[in-house]
Amino acid sequence: LTSQSYPEIKRNPNFALITGQDVSHFGTILSRNSIIDGISPENNASEEDLAPFNVDWMNKYRGQSQLVLKPKSTSEISKILSYCNFRKLAVVPQGGNTGLVGGSVPVFDEIILNLSSMNSIRSFDPVSGTLVCDAGCILEVVDNYLAERGHIFPLDLGAKGSCHIGGNVATNAGGLRLLRYGSLHGTILGLEAVLADGTIMDALSILRKDNTGLDLKQLLIGSEGTIGVITAVSILCPRKPKATNVAFFGLPSYSHVRKAFISAKEHLSEILSAFEFMDSAAQKLSCHHSGTRQVLEQDHPFYVLIETQGSNETHDSEKLEAFLENVMSLQIVSDGVLAQDESQLKSLWKLREFIPEACSKSGGVYKYDVSLPLDCLYDLVTELKNRLVDAGVVGENKTVVDVMGYGHIGDGNLHINIPVRHYSKEVASLLEPWIFEWIGLHNGSISAEHEHDQANEGHKGSLRPQWNFESV
Ligand code: FAD
Ligand code: MLT
Ligand code: ZN
Repeated sequence: LTSQSYPEIKRNPNFALITGQDVSHFGTILSRNSIIDGISPENNASEEDLAPFNVDWMNKYRGQSQLVLKPKSTSEISKILSYCNFRKLAVVPQGGNTGLVGGSVPVFDEIILNLSSMNSIRSFDPVSGTLVCDAGCILEVVDNYLAERGHIFPLDLGAKGSCHIGGNVATNAGGLRLLRYGSLHGTILGLEAVLADGTIMDALSILRKDNTGLDLKQLLIGSEGTIGVITAVSILCPRKPKATNVAFFGLPSYSHVRKAFISAKEHLSEILSAFEFMDSAAQKLSCHHSGTRQVLEQDHPFYVLIETQGSNETHDSEKLEAFLENVMSLQIVSDGVLAQDESQLKSLWKLREFIPEACSKSGGVYKYDVSLPLDCLYDLVTELKNRLVDAGVVGENKTVVDVMGYGHIGDGNLHINIPVRHYSKEVASLLEPWIFEWIGLHNGSISAEHEHDQANEGHKGSLRPQWNFESV
């Protein structure tokens, strides 16, 4: 077997090849319709049936698994992993398959352990706001459940319609409102997980405070499936805000974006729930591919989307007015709109949330998700664009469509995306290691809220870990 996504990587021969007998064994643990089988003589799956599980959201990474298991309970997962550990069969846990770094699909022929059939909400306490749910619950479904009970999930992101809570935890997803509701490291109260040898780790605490022993759950948050399969999550959910406002501004420069952030923190303080930014290139691409018209009449070098969430409409409006007066009188923003109703609010958010999809429409996209000090955050986009333009690879009929920056200014998190018409070694070698060295020199992080995407480095023969059962 060869890996289609990482041609330089050799399959680890310590992992066994799956046989029809293995599939029969899984048939004793799971019901027949929980197994998508391309292996045994009586198999029920074609390449086409397996493709949605083998290929990632961006259509960038492709594994060659012939077996998908969809367990319905923690005990089934425990039995599966115990057997795989004994037989040395490699496994990749999979949630909604919306991760952007290739972690949710196999590299070779790993068994795909898909969590979508574990999707029950176990309990919700409206007094403390504690929700306990299975890992395979879809984020949007959980958020709708909570909304009916006057609460919200403390994480929101563009992939909410497909991503799983377990996947969110495994990736330590940051999302659109981290600046208000904090990281999952703070909101998660407990986890249940199955380790590689089948041991069930029950740390599904619902307590806000619990200092007994080491806080093991923190190791699993952001572990990308490398140390266990998360099967259930206990999480603290805030009250649903009574008033939500969204404003969208055009700004003349990145330094004005920073000034607007200072003003937002000063005037909106505790009701500020999102401060997102995008440059002109990202906004145009998002409008183009979503078929939406630009919101502001004229083009601006930068745009920000600001959201407030509070418990008192009148107080919030007063604060918002003071903020608007400040940014307009000081000419921090050049133009702007305030959503007047729910549908306008959604369209403004769509402009921002659609960017990742728009970036992947040209043929391919090199994605970097970085943290940087705010004063130099956008310099990376400018310098990288100059570098690629100087090399003659950007423009119509060239490999690179454009270089664009967007992301979570409120968290110092830049998404720098380079949509391309096709992947190219020349472009890859212009990007790396230059981009990493630049981030290192500026005291940043090459992995802010997604794991670092190693396939971008594939040309250099970098390694991607496969579960190593012997080390567990
Ligand atoms: P998958 O993609 O299925 O898996 C991701 C990783 O977690 C893989 O390594 C997988 O093996 C592992 N995994 C999955 N489930 C489990 C489990 N139960 N136990 C152990 N390991 C598991 N991320 C952000 O941080 N912020 C954003 O704003 C954001 N916006 C996004 C917008 C779009 C349009 C898209 C497509 C993605 C976005 N993401 C964002 C990426 C983000 O990581 C995922 O959307 C989400 O957190 C992944 O969840 P998933 O269920 O799809 O996981
Ligand atoms: C976002 O903020 O939209 C996501 O993290 C997706 C991306 O990185 O493009
Ligand atoms: Zn993001």
